[in-house]
Amino acid sequence: MAEDQPSLLQKFVQDELPQELRDLVSNLPMENGWAEKHLYQYQGFWYNPFILQALVTLQKHFHANDNDIFLVSIPKSGTTWLKALAFSIVNRSKYPNFQNHPLINNNPHALVPFLEFDLNSSNEFLPNFNSLSRSSSLFSSSPRIISTHFPYVSLPNSVKESSCKIVYLCRDPKDILISRWHFTNKLRKGITDNFSLEDAFEMFCKGVSPGGPFWDHMLGYWNEGMKSSNNKKIMFLKYEEIKMNPLLVLKELAEFLGFPFSREEEAVGVMDDILKLCSFDNLSNLEVNTNGKTSFGVENNIFFRRGQVGDWKNYLTTEMVEKLNNIIANKLTEHGIQF
Ligand code: A3P
Repeated sequence: MAEDQPSLLQKFVQDELPQELRDLVSNLPMENGWAEKHLYQYQGFWYNPFILQALVTLQKHFHANDNDIFLVSIPKSGTTWLKALAFSIVNRSKYPNFQNHPLINNNPHALVPFLEFDLNSSNEFLPNFNSLSRSSSLFSSSPRIISTHFPYVSLPNSVKESSCKIVYLCRDPKDILISRWHFTNKLRKGITDNFSLEDAFEMFCKGVSPGGPFWDHMLGYWNEGMKSSNNKKIMFLKYEEIKMNPLLVLKELAEFLGFPFSREEEAVGVMDDILKLCSFDNLSNLEVNTNGKTSFGVENNIFFRRGQVGDWKNYLTTEMVEKLNNIIANKLTEHGIQF
């Protein structure tokens, strides 16, 4: 990407919508956006219009393979971390040397593409999705590891109908809010005003955030995973669980993905090596992640901030915590999702 070209995400913030997108969103409910000018509601969830266009196209044309692995998350749940872990697990026979591993020179988003960002060649979001086939070069590995932030209800039918595996990652919504608020202001920097935490908080609590409402996003995958027909298809993970018990989660994740660790691998510390390679401290300090950019034009370093559980304590007032905790209790804890 040429230096003077705005990044795709800068375009989200700056540009008037092309006619095609104006037609697409013309009858949809609209609210003010976070990094984007406006969010639009489609099938119950709030979208940036460019991502919505990708979704509608993918719903028509995307073909899932039975051995695909989908890493699904609500944004700011630790997608970058999950991508690194899953890539290392699945590809460890191909890349057994962790000193000279693709993650050393590539941001996890370059190794595990986003369905909604990377499945187009022009970076213009007006892609020729006819080429969206099983042979697309970005998606030619086997199994393909693909990530998305789409909610369950809106996944392309072939994802729901295939025997692919879905790993769903979520996180304490209070930390998601703080992480998303910082992320939004990094995207807005130099382009538009700062987004206040108070505004972010109010919108988040109303469910109006990219991919929101967060509770419906989480519940969609949680409820599907509870169905006996899906309990081998959907694995539900929480950021806090990985932090608390990384070895156990890594082991369970590898088993779920069909790449279990052997006794020999356990004995020689392969799991520890993967955790170290994918750790916040290691990844965030690599040259590629301090200076590089993603295919969709944002700096790799904005995916690494603090990487901790409970940073919300440094930002939210007592009243904010009480309000958000009530929403979490009513919308999630009631159904069995606890943080
Ligand atoms: P914070 O903003 O709380 O630090 P996503 O990858 O879904 O965009 O989520 C980004 C969040 O995950 C950020 O949280 C980021 O710091 C954290 N993160 C990124 N890589 C991580 C890693 N390897 N281990 C733990 N947390 C990580």
